[in-house]
Amino acid sequence: MERIGVVGGGLMGAGIAEVCARAGSAVVVVESEQTRADDSRARLEKSLRRAQERGKLDDAEAVLQRITVTTELEDLADRQLVVEAIVEDESAKVDLFKRLDQIVTDQDAILASNTSSIPIMKLATVTSRPSHVLGIHFFNPVPVLKLVELVPSLMTADETTERSREYVEGSLGKNAITCQDRAGFVVNALLIPFVLSAIRMYESGFATAEDIDQGLVLGAAHPQGPLALADLIGLDTTMSVAQSLYEEFKEPLYAPPPLLARMVDAGLLGRKVGRGFYTYDR
Ligand code: NAI
Repeated sequence: MERIGVVGGGLMGAGIAEVCARAGSAVVVVESEQTRADDSRARLEKSLRRAQERGKLDDAEAVLQRITVTTELEDLADRQLVVEAIVEDESAKVDLFKRLDQIVTDQDAILASNTSSIPIMKLATVTSRPSHVLGIHFFNPVPVLKLVELVPSLMTADETTERSREYVEGSLGKNAITCQDRAGFVVNALLIPFVLSAIRMYESGFATAEDIDQGLVLGAAHPQGPLALADLIGLDTTMSVAQSLYEEFKEPLYAPPPLLARMVDAGLLGRKVGRGFYTYDR
């Protein structure tokens, strides 16, 4: 696939645009307004220049030339694959998929969402081409993490999933796993209850945060403990993924513990604000 579109040029969208352009595709990134588009371009430039400085990329400038950042959704008309990475808001995504369906002219084009928790079916059914809609879920930071989850809905054609796999594995050099259209997909459905269990353990006074984390790092060879991981993901994000898992399965293991809710209310969101289960220099 040579012509890729990315809608939303934030943390994930910029990363997705970067890996596609580094793989040789021409990428159009669409942002909601000009200041956001400028921020997205700056984010891309910084990341690509850093990759070049570290010797991981030969020519950042050549990659940047393959990326156009605009505010016009109509610029996606000729795309072969569009990946949506706007805010995690169902009605915003539904509106966007309705518009993409009208704008993208190639009826073979794939319309994908990077959503972490919104059912792909909700997005597929508002288009006239549900067989060409699926989830392509990247991980943060996109240029570094190898995994992509492919999430076909009940209506996605096998060919759509296979063409997506060819692109993410063959062109982007990622490893794809496939799973059904259920909240959390594979990784979050396993990771979030693990993090929530650690929060419950800490909340009950069973052990200190440091000891819980050290237990998993030194005793189970995890690269970081679950509470440090929650701080990295962001406690607000952890909370909202837990809520969507709980909503879907109604299992107590997905229910956000009260301490997590109180910390989110207090704005103690983890690394990005300098304080969560730990404090950080900002
Ligand atoms: P973000 O807030 O960094 O970026 C979202 C961007 O979308 C913003 O720049 C915003 O201006 C733009 N936007 C909002 N509405 C728009 C519209 N109608 N048209 C064009 N642009 C629009 O959010 P982030 O973290 O990049 O998340 C994006 C998506 O990726 C969400 O669905 C999220 O659940 C998913 N995701 C996030 C991960 C993470 O670690 N942050 C990991 C995997 C998936």
